[in-house]
Amino acid sequence: MAKPRIVVTRRWPAQVESALTERYDATLNDSDTPLSVEELQAALRSADAVCPTVCDRISAEVLGGSGVKARILGNFGVGYNHIDLEAAKKAGLVVTNTPEVLTDCTADIAMTLMLMVARRAGEGERHVRSKAWSGWRPTHMMGTKVTGKVLGLIGFGRIAQAMARKAHFGFGMKIIFHDPFPPAGEICNAVGAVRCDSLDEVLRDADFVSLHCPGGKETYHLLNAERIGLMKRSAYLVNTARGDVVDAQALIGALQDHRIAGAGLDVYEGEPAVPAALLEMDNVVLLPHLGSASLETRVAMGMRVVANLDAFFAGREPRDRVV
Ligand code: DGY
Repeated sequence: MAKPRIVVTRRWPAQVESALTERYDATLNDSDTPLSVEELQAALRSADAVCPTVCDRISAEVLGGSGVKARILGNFGVGYNHIDLEAAKKAGLVVTNTPEVLTDCTADIAMTLMLMVARRAGEGERHVRSKAWSGWRPTHMMGTKVTGKVLGLIGFGRIAQAMARKAHFGFGMKIIFHDPFPPAGEICNAVGAVRCDSLDEVLRDADFVSLHCPGGKETYHLLNAERIGLMKRSAYLVNTARGDVVDAQALIGALQDHRIAGAGLDVYEGEPAVPAALLEMDNVVLLPHLGSASLETRVAMGMRVVANLDAFFAGREPRDRVV
């Protein structure tokens, strides 16, 4: 029997590409250039499976019209707000994602951003590299202590819980959170996490606010000017979730007017574009969407896609089916 035909939209770790080419008639993207709308449409019309990533917009336009041959979108990534799920369902596609395997690495990057922005690590590194450093002195580049402070988590799913463990047990932080669908009490108790009834309460009380909610319509600009205005002037914002959860212009205004102390960002609305104003600010740490970017995790994510495809083409329910 002919192997199912799959199109992979970007380069994946070599070990995963090998697994895919062994099992499938796989078209890989050796140039690693993002596919255009037309190329995505052509992939959906010629392959049995398309394997996109967060940077491919699988919109109603891409999925619409007749002739879609593909039956599954094996997404490489846990977030799927770049896929129009209604349009995918209408086109008869199963959609899968890659949860769990990136939990710790994404929480590690949230911790990295929190520590870097509080302790001025990005700024300090630039200072040394530019040869501006003239030596130790008691008042040089004083930052903010992290240990023992209050960490406010917006969303308390797997990644937030992992960050809570690291922050609580590693840095003695007090954890507060808001989540409309909170986990079981024992999960909260294990890290002494206190549930707040409202998002606003977390924003008012936290020294560090870290975002862990999904992207999409429900959370678009959840952190707008008004909500950012509730944060302490001494507080920092960390975003490893999705760029459009934060109104970037409101955040820039708050940073410029010193209404909050700083921000650590891994994700941006309209990435890879980053607002010029942010690039100029020293109290902002900017990373290029590195949340899951460790070799171990990226291989695990890819192998999770392979497992989802294998199950689907063997007529079984894929473990990570979203729709
Ligand atoms: C995801 O998996 O959704 C991440 O944002 C990619 O690292």
